[in-house]
Amino acid sequence: MALPSLPFFSKHKKPLLNRCRDDHATKMRLKYDPYYHVIEEQRGSTVRLDGRDMIMLASNDYLGLSFDPRVVEAGQAAMQRWGASPTGARSANGSRAYHIELEEKLAAHLGREACHVHSSGYLSCMSSVAAFAQKGDLVFADKNLHSSLWDGIRLSMASVERFAHNNPTDLRDALEAAAPDAAKMLVLEGVYSMEGHICRLPELVPLAEAHHCFTVLDDAHGFGVLGKDGRGTPNHFGLEGQIDIVCGSLSKSLGSTGGFVAASREVIDFLRTNSKQTIFSAALSPAQAAIASTALDLMQREPEHRERLWANTRKYRAMLDELGLDTWGSETPAVPIVLGSKERVYPFWQALREKGIFTIMSIAPAVPAGKDLIRTAISALHTDEQLERIAEAMAYAVKKVGVGR
Ligand SMILES: Cc1ncc(COP(=O)(O)O)c(C=O)c1O
Repeated sequence: MALPSLPFFSKHKKPLLNRCRDDHATKMRLKYDPYYHVIEEQRGSTVRLDGRDMIMLASNDYLGLSFDPRVVEAGQAAMQRWGASPTGARSANGSRAYHIELEEKLAAHLGREACHVHSSGYLSCMSSVAAFAQKGDLVFADKNLHSSLWDGIRLSMASVERFAHNNPTDLRDALEAAAPDAAKMLVLEGVYSMEGHICRLPELVPLAEAHHCFTVLDDAHGFGVLGKDGRGTPNHFGLEGQIDIVCGSLSKSLGSTGGFVAASREVIDFLRTNSKQTIFSAALSPAQAAIASTALDLMQREPEHRERLWANTRKYRAMLDELGLDTWGSETPAVPIVLGSKERVYPFWQALREKGIFTIMSIAPAVPAGKDLIRTAISALHTDEQLERIAEAMAYAVKKVGVGR
């Protein structure tokens, strides 16, 4: 008779628990500890990590509004008035006057009839695809889309055609090869979050129109950064109204958390009826809505935040160019430093950290093979003195790793 194995030596009987225990990616993450760093304190673009002050060079707080006292105060006042949470979905007990107020403001800002806000940008972007595309439809997707959009595509059960990143010729070929009668959707980002590329909307939108595509644009990184008063990528190109859905996040330029979907009234009504992410998830909290709403007012009234952001971005890009670093042709404050292999990324990231600069590594498969990179982002909050310290740290990392000029 076989002896029962001792629990100390035996593996779990549940295969899924074994999968957790044996997962290579998790083992590597725990060994090298590159993610999930716990910041102990923050003051604007300065963070404290392991007891040491560092410059934050990886935040999406583009306009630096998350630390504006007026924004913080608005969040506090909203909690006093509404409590901590709406504790329910909008479709049930969770709808509040502050949601409607924020939605009307966002819709007006984006030049759309209507808007719906969710408790995360991920939900907004996922539902912008999943609620509309269905089995039998054809979704045309830029290869470098954000994970929230891929999840929406997968959930929709529609067929997918990926086209080369930001490449109108490739999209045209894919559209021409597709069944003319299929219901079609085109999914794009206004500013690609990893690459910092601006979407080639003036060439892509006419193709979508010619082939009767319903167009979804995730403008998480264009909102607040591009266009008049930060109205985003469609406004930047004068193409507002030619895109069916603009979705995005409140966690970047608006310094809050949450997300939005802006479109015509009938599209938003359909979303509210059919999107599971919208119907079955608790609504945006009072503090986060008030923060986003106040930040939006400031964004409209005070252009100096965006002006400072772009001045900093120009200085930063010139600094990286001078060092001969590859920024993947970034055109925006989201600036990757492409090093091409994890063997270079890791020591570069460590060298920056040693010099007190907080950045994020992104290695394949999170980015295409050969594009392993350090993801950095500039904020309006970065001071000239901080930019000088960043320049010194970059020069040090370049020398240490033997990249650049
Ligand atoms: C392009 C893009 N879309 C959607 C999201 C999701 O937004 P959030 O972080 O607010 O959930 C992000 C954030 O990482 C993003 O970069």
